[in-house]
Amino acid sequence: LMPPLTVAVTGAAGQIGYALLMRIASGEMLGKDQPVRLQLIETKQGMSPLKGVMMELEDGAFPLLESVKGTSDLEEGFGDANFSLLVGAMPRKQGMERSDLLSANAAIFADQGKALSATAAPGSRVLIVGNPANTNALVAAANAPDMLPEQFMAMTRLDQSRAEGMIAGKAGVDVKDVDRVIIWGNHSATQYPDVSHARIGGRWAKDVIKDDKWLTGDFVSKVQKRGAEVIAARGASSAASAASAAIDNIRDVHLGSKKWQSIGVLSDGSYGIGGGLWYSVPCACPGLHYTRVKGLPVDEYSASMMNATEAELVAERDAVRHLLPSSYDAGVPL
Ligand code: NAI
Repeated sequence: LMPPLTVAVTGAAGQIGYALLMRIASGEMLGKDQPVRLQLIETKQGMSPLKGVMMELEDGAFPLLESVKGTSDLEEGFGDANFSLLVGAMPRKQGMERSDLLSANAAIFADQGKALSATAAPGSRVLIVGNPANTNALVAAANAPDMLPEQFMAMTRLDQSRAEGMIAGKAGVDVKDVDRVIIWGNHSATQYPDVSHARIGGRWAKDVIKDDKWLTGDFVSKVQKRGAEVIAARGASSAASAASAAIDNIRDVHLGSKKWQSIGVLSDGSYGIGGGLWYSVPCACPGLHYTRVKGLPVDEYSASMMNATEAELVAERDAVRHLLPSSYDAGVPL
């Protein structure tokens, strides 16, 4: 067995946390020969349900689980973490404007960025799941002076998986044969699920599906609205699939994958997307790190979709500008 890796999870007693922790403990995220230490972070009010979750982790008797710690202290929770999954966030309450929600969450993620920078393991990876995920990632990274922007990823993997599932269903193939579906931009209803580069078993997905109207119409809006569709049916928001996507995201970055993976990362000016945003782009995952896939041709329809979701991210950034340190300058990489 290898030396243990430490995984910190915020919002650990929430619904995504509940679907996530057992799978991390069983080795599905970092590998079946990789011992893990869990450091679970909750609010003070969350400590009681967290205790119950910790009991269940003990009762799972996971051979790979070396230790479990629960805390509401950020520096303790992120201390020496190799991977941090930032799941906890403030939900929208009645009467709250979108800008209030943005600011409330940005304040949380500013504190978490500072604590990560001060205490996490060198070279650690951070995945932001809590919404608004992309802008929360920007705020956390901008408040982490001793970390690189590449260490912070905003999760759009669930959107990608949703899109792949729909493409596989339409084409009548296994989802494992679908590759290079891209999610551009924000994890929100403006995201652009793009199939123009996708392949099914080595053929162009467009040529297999032969329905361009669907691919740029119903398919796009169905992916964008899938979260709401799940809420309407289940009476609660997507949690197990979100946990699954978080596991897939970290596993593919850490252990590597032949497939592309969309991740919200610092925009570096490629594809004409202004610098300083956490914008989802396709990434290659050779193992232990990711690299942005650059230079893909972008047609007119795609360009307009990519610009629309960029505009939303710019507006989100401007709503939380007061929480960005003066060293943050839009357009200039951090
Ligand atoms: P939930 O409400 O069941 O759980 C959230 C947990 O976070 C609660 O236990 C709460 O006590 C805790 N929490 C709140 N603020 C915290 C803080 N400052 N520090 C530590 N813990 C804190 O919510 P659920 O369903 O688990 O979702 C969590 C977040 O994930 C939400 O923001 C949701 O919108 C987002 N989400 C993101 C997805 C994505 O694809 N990026 C997909 C699905 C959900």
